[in-house]
Amino acid sequence: NLKYRAFAPVALRDRTWPDAQLTSAPIWLSTDLRDGNQALIEPMDAERKLRMFEMLVKIGFKEIEVGFPSASQTDFDFVRLLIERDLIPEDVTIQVLTQARQPLIARTFEALVGARRAIVHLYNACAPVMRKVVLGLDEEQIVELAVTHTRMIRDMADARPGTEWGFEYSPEMFSGTELAFSKRVVDAVTAAWGATPERKVIINLPATVEHSTPNIFADMIEWMHRHIERRDGVVLSVHPHNDRGTGTAAGEFALMAGADRIEGCLFGSGERTGNVDLVNIALNLYTQGVSPQLDFSDIDEVRRCAEHCTQLPVHPRHPYAGDLVYTSFSGSHQDAIKKAFAARKADEIWNMPYLPIDPKDLGRSYDAVIRVNSQSGKGGIAYLLETEYGVELPRRLQIEFSQVVQQVMDDSGKEQSAADIWAIFAREYGVGD
Ligand code: KIV
Ligand code: ZN
Repeated sequence: NLKYRAFAPVALRDRTWPDAQLTSAPIWLSTDLRDGNQALIEPMDAERKLRMFEMLVKIGFKEIEVGFPSASQTDFDFVRLLIERDLIPEDVTIQVLTQARQPLIARTFEALVGARRAIVHLYNACAPVMRKVVLGLDEEQIVELAVTHTRMIRDMADARPGTEWGFEYSPEMFSGTELAFSKRVVDAVTAAWGATPERKVIINLPATVEHSTPNIFADMIEWMHRHIERRDGVVLSVHPHNDRGTGTAAGEFALMAGADRIEGCLFGSGERTGNVDLVNIALNLYTQGVSPQLDFSDIDEVRRCAEHCTQLPVHPRHPYAGDLVYTSFSGSHQDAIKKAFAARKADEIWNMPYLPIDPKDLGRSYDAVIRVNSQSGKGGIAYLLETEYGVELPRRLQIEFSQVVQQVMDDSGKEQSAADIWAIFAREYGVGD
């Protein structure tokens, strides 16, 4: 008596993405300051918002969603601060979210007065559960809502030529909506905006809630990519969330399936289980030999900033950024890494067992690569003594001494640092007496 239904709105038989490789960076949009912020226990204040904004700029994001100014005075004031203090670099475009209501759109434009460039992001829910249960609107009315407010934004933008305007439309809950209906709404919006290659519209397809396996989401994106009208006047964007824990895969598949742009957050911040993690997507590209055009060469600085701004910790096993992800405790892994390091020639392609990326590329040292606990063997103990204290143990002594250290770890259940191991060695063999 399961009460769930499998979600499979399309089965593309001639899909192209399974053979595809990601060969270039997508257009990135960080929504840390909007979707990320709206899910925080303690939303960011102005100081934390500014710090996050500056970090996003430093990383290299050229499109940054900075808030929902018609819904929050803090967001409104923050947008004003960015504009009035001229804090937005020439090559960065800010984006703001608005609902499809005239007073909110007017307030949004008020927040953006004086901006050099800005994207107004309109959304309305399209899924059957929202139409029927929450909003009580039929399909016709949903299309009408989207079109009317798109025209409103176009007219307000045209009346303010001092700013270079962009426009984004999101059919909220795209991942739970019938594809034919999504296409109908999106085509109507695209036409209402008057989209052309010179005046593009960003059509952003959100997995507001991640309902399906990533292949299904990617098939939906490919179907839209192939079927929507005026494709050359559209920047096709995706906005995965992570409810099934497959946000990164969904994002990658969606880019392979035809999306040009991706929206997400650092370290997967965002509603519920988070938005797609843009650090993962970017560094996955990097480890495939593709420049993500984002700079994570000091991952710990980015992490510290994100932790300060969100007041949430990054998990020690978080890909690329966690404290433990470049560490091996197991003896066999340690032996393999040691051999590969010894054999490695400078400037060689990275091909290291158990280390998918060179920690130095992200500003980490090799110090944590080998750590010793009761799972480790003699090799790890010898390695730490050699690299930290210049003591090279002959093989017989390695075996003998590792048994002593092993006993300490079995008794204490604790990891032993290089200094701990040296102290045991000194005690055992009277070194330094
Ligand atoms: O997840 C979502 O649907 C959103 C929209 C507002 C784009 O955040
Ligand atoms: Zn979202």
